[in-house]
Amino acid sequence: MGIRSIKELDLKSKKVLIRVDFNVPLDEEGAITDDSRIRGALPTIQYAMDQGGKVVLMSHLGRPKGKVVKSMSLLPVARQLSELLGASVNMAPDCVGDQVKKIVDNLSSGEVILLENLRFHIGEEKNDPGFAKELSELGECYVNDAFATAHRAHASNVGICDYIKDTAAGFLMLREVEYINKALKDPKRPYAAVIGGAKVSGKLEVLENLIEKVDKVIIGGGMAFTFIKALGQNIGKSLVEDDLVDTARAVMEKARSRGVKLYLPVDCVCAPDPKSGRDAVTVTIQEIPAGLMGLDIGPASAALFSEALDDCSMIVWNGPMGVFEQEPFSQGTMDITRKIANSKALTIVGGGDTDAALHKSSLVEKVDFVSTAGGAFLEMLGGAELPGVKSLER
Ligand code: 3PG
Repeated sequence: MGIRSIKELDLKSKKVLIRVDFNVPLDEEGAITDDSRIRGALPTIQYAMDQGGKVVLMSHLGRPKGKVVKSMSLLPVARQLSELLGASVNMAPDCVGDQVKKIVDNLSSGEVILLENLRFHIGEEKNDPGFAKELSELGECYVNDAFATAHRAHASNVGICDYIKDTAAGFLMLREVEYINKALKDPKRPYAAVIGGAKVSGKLEVLENLIEKVDKVIIGGGMAFTFIKALGQNIGKSLVEDDLVDTARAVMEKARSRGVKLYLPVDCVCAPDPKSGRDAVTVTIQEIPAGLMGLDIGPASAALFSEALDDCSMIVWNGPMGVFEQEPFSQGTMDITRKIANSKALTIVGGGDTDAALHKSSLVEKVDFVSTAGGAFLEMLGGAELPGVKSLER
């Protein structure tokens, strides 16, 4: 069983139904603040157009929970896509129904239409067979390029595959799966995982799975304090998940028994809370004052982590080293961002906050692969089989 590439489908004059993930961030005025996901899908869309397909795009945006929510319309996405493609992209008034069917039937080869938000219908998230069938009737073949949604089992990425025979993955989906598989199955060594972010709970599966594959694991961000507490040290007011202290100890023991080098911060930048930057002090990890919380790794940790990454041939990174959105707590994350971006190693980066840190550093182009996914990236790295990938197997 395998997954076909869009290149294996005959698209000429066919209605090509493509599931994309255009779940992009919008500001209060409804303007798109990061169009990476739209850009990521361009090669597949352009290819389908060039092959003479009648291109029907579908996506969700936000979590409207089965109701029409005007602020979650995909209209701003259609405008941005038109601009990026240099071709007009019409917007359908809905994603199913007679009117939409008629519009799709009247498309010409090379034309593109974007359906309205799939999640305006409750059937999407419920993976309702009737809704999946209705969607399937809008295409003669189906392409899934929405890797970022692949951890969900919804009608437009799972149920639909029961109703369309000709299915394939788009170029973005193939590239995401290829790179994450390199990290899981074919690592270059020495291989390091850099894991950060606020909580251990969201990263446990990833840590447990990657510890079986990497040579080094570097832990930063708020989650590091649960590990530091597990070592019996005082962490002041720092973020901690008390129910996971034993788990953190078990992760460290697993690393030790497998000969995996595990690095934790040796110093940190502390303050009474993230908003009290003016009162920040840098201390060793053994000397966090009782009333303060660690909000960034300190310079000694950044130097230690950088040295540990020096000889690596492959680095996977998810999660910032601190509250990098607020000063003066961005330095540690920026140091590690620069180190990874400038490394000669094969670098694979994923996750919303990590991506934001990369953008802040303006070094995105220097990383070998930046995933467009958050949850799907983490779940696949954690060893889960993603329903939106599995459903494409034939
Ligand atoms: C994402 O942004 O992770 C995907 O688009 C999935 O969105 P969801 O978490 O709302 O299902």
